[in-house]
Amino acid sequence: MTQLKKRTTASTLLADKQAQRKQVWLTAYDTPSATLAEIAGVDVILVGDSLGMVSLGFDSTIPVSLEDMMHHTAAVVRGRDKAWVVCDLPFGSYQQSPEQAFEAAAKVLQQTGCDAVKIEGGQHMAATIAFLSERGIAVVAHIGLTPQSVKKFGGFKKQGGNPKAAEVIFQDAMSVSQTGAVAVVLECIPDDLAARITAAIEIPTIGIGAGKDCDGQVLVWHDLLGLSEKNPPFAPAYANLREQITNAIGQWSEDVRTGKQP
Ligand code: KIV
Repeated sequence: MTQLKKRTTASTLLADKQAQRKQVWLTAYDTPSATLAEIAGVDVILVGDSLGMVSLGFDSTIPVSLEDMMHHTAAVVRGRDKAWVVCDLPFGSYQQSPEQAFEAAAKVLQQTGCDAVKIEGGQHMAATIAFLSERGIAVVAHIGLTPQSVKKFGGFKKQGGNPKAAEVIFQDAMSVSQTGAVAVVLECIPDDLAARITAAIEIPTIGIGAGKDCDGQVLVWHDLLGLSEKNPPFAPAYANLREQITNAIGQWSEDVRTGKQP
């Protein structure tokens, strides 16, 4: 385990890309998880709106509110030391206008103490990314499979599978890089497209289901630790906590019922 020696910043992210040092990003949603991610030395903790699906029982990220995100992001910030903390702006809190996005981002930064916000979208979010960036906000962009558009996509499907769709995603990446995003998440796109984007843009690409050539990788906490009922095909589980937890609860229940405990 390699713990971080210095606090991650937006400049560290850029320097890592230039030095070809792979970045490790992981989602977390509460203080103890943030502390564990920190002890394990992750560079960036993302408070993803996947919160809605992995912790709040929704079947998409769409119902997640700004208040939900702020509540959980503040908890994560209380558990971090050196990791950079990014908060997802949830559906409906930023798409309407750059001004709406600024208001949401300012509230998140001021009231949670996190470092950056993430928004979904490429070329159509150019004006918003520029508006936030020009006002001093570190913005992470998210392109490819953008879960807040799941109803439009008709499911959680790989994006960029034909040359025309791949070109749109490539242009999305160029656009977010040129308008001031400090990093971009590439979700569920072909590996060769992610590699082409990574070579072409100046900011770090953070992949999830986008192959090994991205500048870093991100995973959802519950998938990495084997807490999810079923992982997406691209998400490896490095532990089986679901089984360990149910076994522990089951064993304790048995012991209570048979009088072994307390
Ligand atoms: O919400 C989230 O957890 C995310 C990651 C999947 C990148 O956006």
